[in-house]
Amino acid sequence: MNIIKLNNGVEMPQLGFGVYQIPLEETAEAVYQAIKVGYRLIDTAAIYGNEKETGQGVKRAIEEGIVTRKELFITSKLFILQTPEEKAMKTIEHSLSIMGLDYLDLYLIHQPYGDVYGAWRALMTAQKEGKLRAIGISNFKSSKMIEFVGLNEVKPQINQIEVNPWNQRIEDQEWHEKYDVQIEAWAPFSEGRHELFQNQELAEIGKKYNKTVGQVVLRWLMQRNIIALAKSVRPERMAENFNIFDFELSEEDMKKIAQLDKKESAFFDHDDPQQVEWFMKRMLDTEKSNI
Ligand SMILES: NC(=O)c1ccc[n+]([C@@H]2O[C@H](COP(=O)([O-])OP(=O)(O)OC[C@H]3O[C@@H](n4cnc5c(N)ncnc54)[C@H](OP(=O)(O)O)[C@@H]3O)[C@@H](O)[C@H]2O)c1
Repeated sequence: MNIIKLNNGVEMPQLGFGVYQIPLEETAEAVYQAIKVGYRLIDTAAIYGNEKETGQGVKRAIEEGIVTRKELFITSKLFILQTPEEKAMKTIEHSLSIMGLDYLDLYLIHQPYGDVYGAWRALMTAQKEGKLRAIGISNFKSSKMIEFVGLNEVKPQINQIEVNPWNQRIEDQEWHEKYDVQIEAWAPFSEGRHELFQNQELAEIGKKYNKTVGQVVLRWLMQRNIIALAKSVRPERMAENFNIFDFELSEEDMKKIAQLDKKESAFFDHDDPQQVEWFMKRMLDTEKSNI
């Protein structure tokens, strides 16, 4: 497994397993299977509603001696709060408690809305107290990341953003490298949008190395020094996606993939008013239900 050193010295695996949209009743088993396959980085979030089940999968793998807590790198995320400075610490403690953990390896501000500065002060405190080894942001555009770095005493270790062959974030990566904030890719497969798994160019490249489209995409991210989170509920795909450390894409193939960039999200723009409206509604619903 490739290891990436973050700007605070914490080391994390470059390839991880994400649990977004895994049905609740399948999450513990999926996490357990992923750890069995070899994944050590596990990514969940309060808003996914499956932190508890993620913790159950982790607990089982540790109890069976497959892995130790120290070998794992577990991430969760803080959803939007109306008064984060007041509530974030309680939310972090709640996440730790339902996951059955003493600390998280990484904790992110999930969305770039509201009082992210107040939230960050709470995350910095939790980090100082040893509850969070690394802290970061997610879905921040480069302009907002730069402002955030400029105005805070501790800079984020990570910005988790969408990166896939349709939305390659080349310029964003340059900005993040300049500020030493590591990019972590969500939806590396664009959840299959724009027929990613059927793409002829990616399939042709894969054939040369006897690898699948999914493996080519993850390998391309590894070679760009980006951390990637892949999700699958199927153990055979978990294993396929993990099996990317025995080949290297040529410079020519990296250039071919670069040409697929559409430079826009396969999902949505975080500044789209309709999307912001959706997030605000989600925030109110979750604050009511105390997630
Ligand atoms: N910070 C954020 O705002 C944010 C947003 C989205 C996601 N994330 C994180 O990033 C993780 C990954 O993103 P994602 O889950 O949205 O999407 P993704 O990993 O791009 O795609 C997952 C989809 O691809 C399929 N798949 C996986 N491996 C495959 C393979 N080898 N061949 C064919 N199909 C395959 C899966 O189906 P099966 O499960 O049926 O195999 C699933 O439908 C999430 O789980 C989450 O942890 C974060």
